[in-house]
Amino acid sequence: MASSTGAPISAGAAAEEEEAVASAVTVTANPHADLGEIMPSLPTAPGFPPYRMRRYGGFWHIDMYLKFICASHACFRPRPTDVLLASFPKTGTTWLKALAFSALNRAAHPPSHAGADHPLHRNSPHDLVRFLELADQDGDGLIYEEVPSPRLLATHVPYSLLPHSITGTDDGSGGRIMYVCRDPKDTFVSFWHYHEKTTATLQQMADVGGASEAMPTFEEAFELFCEGQSAEGPQWRHTLEYWEASCRSPDKVLFLRYEDLLLDPPGSLRKIAAFMACPFSPEEEAAGVVRDIVELCSLGTLKGLEVNRRGSTMLGLKNDAFFRNGTVGDWSNCMTPAMAARLDGIVAEALEGSTLTFGASCKDSV
Ligand code: A3P
Repeated sequence: MASSTGAPISAGAAAEEEEAVASAVTVTANPHADLGEIMPSLPTAPGFPPYRMRRYGGFWHIDMYLKFICASHACFRPRPTDVLLASFPKTGTTWLKALAFSALNRAAHPPSHAGADHPLHRNSPHDLVRFLELADQDGDGLIYEEVPSPRLLATHVPYSLLPHSITGTDDGSGGRIMYVCRDPKDTFVSFWHYHEKTTATLQQMADVGGASEAMPTFEEAFELFCEGQSAEGPQWRHTLEYWEASCRSPDKVLFLRYEDLLLDPPGSLRKIAAFMACPFSPEEEAAGVVRDIVELCSLGTLKGLEVNRRGSTMLGLKNDAFFRNGTVGDWSNCMTPAMAARLDGIVAEALEGSTLTFGASCKDSV
């Protein structure tokens, strides 16, 4: 870890920074109100992907991303009917966006229209469900207002750093959240492959948004990931916050797992639709609507679409970078057993005393 001057940050300094944020949480109504002001003084370090990262609230953020987070705090006004799809990068965001969009809009856009008529045939899921923190780079809030209710938005922002207007209310006015998690070993490997495909675009963004860093090797990237120095990392802390929020308020936060989605896509889709207050009727079940949405949103279907093979989406990223092989356990093809044991150990230590475990839900001790 390094400070903004490039000097190493000690664990003590990092803890002090966390404490400062924690104490701010207890004394102000909006704990992040001064984020814009303090941003330049936050500790920085190189990370993976190779941007300059800034540490805030116990997480590492791409410098440019932190500015967007700050803007969304200033201007986002939630609606009670909002559904926010939250995730750590590379844990199933694209799939969740496709499933939630298709379920919510099935009356206007029936999934059985196999022709080029469904929005997913012409748009990346990332263009149909925009990231809260990326949507409003002008900082005027208007882009959110244009989306009709019920709005579907997405975020990679940790729970504790979401706009207070979303998390700071118990009366339902802040909308609801669906979070998808994934085993960190598969997340890292997915991140690595994604990074290989998006290097050129990411490097261009780094040039625009701050100092660009040298490309890490697989082993160096793994070390940075283990240190939590990845976008919105550490992943386990990110997931733990949403897990705890879902345990506290299951009606507000639905906790999903990539591994469960793969094991039972129809069952997971029913859960997603019910949480969005649009459960499938017996007639829809009989007509095969669930099956049609699952098929439409499957990796095979989406990956094969022209728009996802050749198009690009937010920040100029190529759509095809978001679709790879979509399996559980691919980490074993890239990591040594020692690397896997090291990451598992770090995660186990970080989650000690909590009820969260990674992997399919049958392993939960809730
Ligand atoms: P792999 O790299 O392991 O294949 P995100 O959407 O959060 O960026 O996550 C990307 C991961 O989700 C990639 O995993 C990608 O292949 C997988 N994915 C994308 N769309 C999917 C879908 N429709 N069904 C299953 N997995 C999908």
